[in-house]
Amino acid sequence: MSCSRKIILVAGSAVVATLVGMGGYAVVAAGDAATVQTAQMSPADTIKERQELMKGQGKAAKAISEFVESGTGTAEDVGKHAADLKTSAGQIAELFPAGTSIDDNVAKTAAKKEIWDDFDGFKASADKLGELAGALEEAAGGGDKQQIADAFGAMGKDGCGGCHSKFRQKQE
Ligand code: HEC
Repeated sequence: MSCSRKIILVAGSAVVATLVGMGGYAVVAAGDAATVQTAQMSPADTIKERQELMKGQGKAAKAISEFVESGTGTAEDVGKHAADLKTSAGQIAELFPAGTSIDDNVAKTAAKKEIWDDFDGFKASADKLGELAGALEEAAGGGDKQQIADAFGAMGKDGCGGCHSKFRQKQE
C-alpha cells in the first residue's frame, strides 16, 4: 500500500488546499496560514516528513542563491520561493513532537534534545525564519538585486543558520 505524504506548500491568498493523507495528517494552507496535523503519524514518519520539508527548504534556498550568484531565474521566482519558505517556516514546530530527538532512537535524525529543553526558543527560531523570508519576499517584489542578496544573506544566517546552530546536530 502506498500513499503520498507530501506537504503541500500553497502560496497566494486565492488558493485553499486541503489534503488528508492515509497516514492521517492534513495540510490546509490559505495565504499565510498553514496547519499540519500530525497527531496520528508515527514518530518515524514525522521525522521523515520534517526531513522532506527541510529538503524542500534546501531546494528553495538553492534556487534563490542561484539567482543571487549568477542571475538564474527572475526576482519574481525568488518571491515565490520566499513565500513558500514563509509558509513552511510555520509548519516546522508541529513536526517536532516530543519523542523524536536523536536520543529517542526512533529513526535517524539530527534533531538535538535541546529543541525540547527550549521549545519556545525553537519556535522563536522558526518564527524568525518566517519573518526573514517575508522580508526577502518583499525585497524580491521591489526587484533590487542588492536588496534581494542582502535579505537572502540575512535569512540564511539568522533564519536557517540561527536554528541549525543551536538545534541541529552538526553534519560531518
Ligand atoms: C526552527 C529550526 C530550523 C529552521 C528555521 C531551519 N531548519 Fe533546517 N533543520 C532543522 C532541524 C532540527 C533539522 C534536522 C531534522 C531531522 O533530522 O530530523 C534540519 C534539517 C535540515 C536539512 C537536512 C534534511 C535531511 O535531508 O535530513 C536541510 C537541507 C535543512 N534543514 C535546510 C534548511 C534551510 C535551507 C532552512 C532555511 C530556509 C532551514 N533548514 C531552517 C531545524 C531548522
